[in-house]
Amino acid sequence: MGFFENIISQKISDISGMEADTLVQYLETPPDINMGDFAFPCFKLAKELRKSPMSIAEDFKSKLDTQLGDVIEKVEIVNGYLNFFIKKDEKVKYVLNQIEQQGDKYGASNRGEGQNILIEYSSPNIAKPFHIGHLRNTIIGGALYNIYKFMGYNTTSINHLGDYGTQFGKLIEGIKLWGNEYDIDSNPIEELSKIYIRINDLCKNDEKVLEACRENFRLLENGDEYCTSLWQKIRAQSLEEFDKIYKLLNVKFDAVIGEAFYIDKIDDVIKDLKEANVLVESQGAQIIDMEDKGLGVLIVIKSNDSSIYATRDLAAIKYRAKTYDFDKCLYVVASEQNMYFKQLFEAAKYLNISEKCKNNLHHVQYGMVRLPSGKMSTRLGNTITVEQLLNETIDRVDKIIEEKNPDMENREEQSKKIGIGAVVFNNVCSNIIKDQIFDWDQVLNFSGETGPYIQYVYVRTKSVLEKINFDIPKIENIDYNNLVDDYSMKIIQTLYQFESVLELVINKNDPSYLAKYLINLSQCYTEFYNNNKIITEDKNIQDARVLITYYVGKVLKNGAKLLGMEMPDKM
Ligand code: ARG
Repeated sequence: MGFFENIISQKISDISGMEADTLVQYLETPPDINMGDFAFPCFKLAKELRKSPMSIAEDFKSKLDTQLGDVIEKVEIVNGYLNFFIKKDEKVKYVLNQIEQQGDKYGASNRGEGQNILIEYSSPNIAKPFHIGHLRNTIIGGALYNIYKFMGYNTTSINHLGDYGTQFGKLIEGIKLWGNEYDIDSNPIEELSKIYIRINDLCKNDEKVLEACRENFRLLENGDEYCTSLWQKIRAQSLEEFDKIYKLLNVKFDAVIGEAFYIDKIDDVIKDLKEANVLVESQGAQIIDMEDKGLGVLIVIKSNDSSIYATRDLAAIKYRAKTYDFDKCLYVVASEQNMYFKQLFEAAKYLNISEKCKNNLHHVQYGMVRLPSGKMSTRLGNTITVEQLLNETIDRVDKIIEEKNPDMENREEQSKKIGIGAVVFNNVCSNIIKDQIFDWDQVLNFSGETGPYIQYVYVRTKSVLEKINFDIPKIENIDYNNLVDDYSMKIIQTLYQFESVLELVINKNDPSYLAKYLINLSQCYTEFYNNNKIITEDKNIQDARVLITYYVGKVLKNGAKLLGMEMPDKM
């Protein structure tokens, strides 16, 4: 909790005898800064103290007034709330010194110390296109990963590749039949997708081909040399393609573990489920009946004895519990799989793993991304690939720069940072559960609530510093009273909130709170910039304004980096 919140709750605790730790949680931020910095809702104590909120407020105020201390300026009563005003210069002093001392670690904490967090994200399927949903997933997961790490958690990222399933029997058959008609090596994913569609069509009409596909899968499961090497090749080629996207996004994984890895661990899962007595036979398959919980049935072993997606996920849970002893395991997966994850987590209760692991599996769901024309899906023949989409965005930025600022240095690099930043931001700018539209005009609007807008404001802070040759004023020489005007105070207030915003991201597993925060900070700075002369005759005023400019730039840059965006030097 924040510094001032702790002081206030301690004061209320002193006069009421109640626990400061509890009181601090009741503190709110008033809707308008003119109403104070913090508000304490007295009705929260009405029951316990058997008094009306109003009389509690009056009683507390009269006691507090006699012992306000160094940082509280005054306390006011508004509708049963106690509104606390922090002395402006104290707030300025605190915030500036925190940033000065913590530098790039400003906003970080050690709240995650000793806790193991697994974040699974991206998880595309090999031999299939990396679609725009996987892009969103990769961006959200990557941001959560960065933020958990920043907050001191021992964080591990996992890419749970879809590299197993009966479809590989089909793909192998397709390659056997028509492999030489396709240029798989130079364009693996696209060509393999075509083969897959073609063999699927054939299977629909030809039972014999379907049988051959099944046989291939059986061979693959039993380690047949030809099938296995083909599968390995497909996997490697796919990963190579995915890596191009990860590289553009600057996303890395601590572990890339595909579904196939779990095949030899399925028996162990079945053993647990049998011991828990929950496996039932149904039409030759082994299932868990969850009807009584409103979750239908979950197939664990198919009638032909093979595992399915869920079985491999159960094995993955066991493996992760054993390997990482996680305190929390997050699955960043589209909301379409909502029901599936409820079933999976229910089934996980029957595994022989710790209660801690069982109870800390979380599905982090996100909405779909649509192009303005409709859902972007390979099946609908909406043919742009994610790599093309990213490159197209970069190209469009490059054209804009060419028009506006043709002499810019390192234009290629800047365009890339802006283009990727724009896409990244677009995917996390509103609550992730909501569907998101991808529309170039909107994503690249430099003055809207976009990534490029934040980058633009950052570059503006840089150009202010350039004017003073990056000779950053020393904090010891700053007169805090030069930053108590409304525009500066709004920035101070916003900077103060950085850590609590990061905590909110973690509590909600939603990086959009950080994205909105960065927009807010950018807007505060823009207002400050438009209404205050920064470079001015009065050196004292100038130093104070330059220093806050420097800190805003720092927080914007570090915050954006947590989301997965880089800052350009020029725009
Ligand atoms: N590969 C799957 C897909 O593309 C997502 C995997 C999600 N993770 C999991 N543990 N089931 O739909």
